[in-house]
Amino acid sequence: MYGDIEKVLISEEELKKKTKELGEKITKDYTGKNLLIISVLKGGFVFTSDLMRAIKISAPVEFMAVSSYGSSTKSSGVVEIRKDLDRDIKGMDVLIVEDVLDSGLTLSYLSKLLRTRGAKSIKICTILNKPQCRKADVEADYIGFNIGDDFVVGYGLDFNENYRNLPFVGVLKSEVYENKV
Ligand code: IMP
Ligand code: MG
Repeated sequence: MYGDIEKVLISEEELKKKTKELGEKITKDYTGKNLLIISVLKGGFVFTSDLMRAIKISAPVEFMAVSSYGSSTKSSGVVEIRKDLDRDIKGMDVLIVEDVLDSGLTLSYLSKLLRTRGAKSIKICTILNKPQCRKADVEADYIGFNIGDDFVVGYGLDFNENYRNLPFVGVLKSEVYENKV
């Protein structure tokens, strides 16, 4: 697995430091509110588990699984809900936690959907942001790192379901996906 990585883009230490900072900011911003974390599976679960431990107020967590990608490295634009929430979100201050905001199609769809279910507020926290890849009109309220349009893996992000367990964010060697797509 490590041999497939071209370079480390964001180290484990940098991820740790940033997650702590984001947790402190979210703690401040949500004190006195009804924070509900919604983690977007599968990619968001690694960041969510670190982020929620850096948040020092009560923060229940829910999971949603959506897919916009299939197994290729380009967005299909089709968003499908594969796992829905287990609870009502009426009156809650929802914080959607994602691995990467890329085209924005997934989060644009998701935030609209959650709004129709009566959330009091909806914000987005993403560990990675690819600002130049946007197709939908959506921005994150909390961003870990802005990156270029390279396809990256690790810290929850996968290629064909692999590499999610890398503790850093890295760029795959191009021959890895050229061989398998
Ligand atoms: P969007 O709808 O295009 O913003 O894409 C969101 C989803 O695409 C993310 O939650 C990821 O699962 C996936 N994705 C986007 N860019 C990457 C990447 O560089 N590596 C791995 N997955 C990615
Ligand atoms: Mg994802």
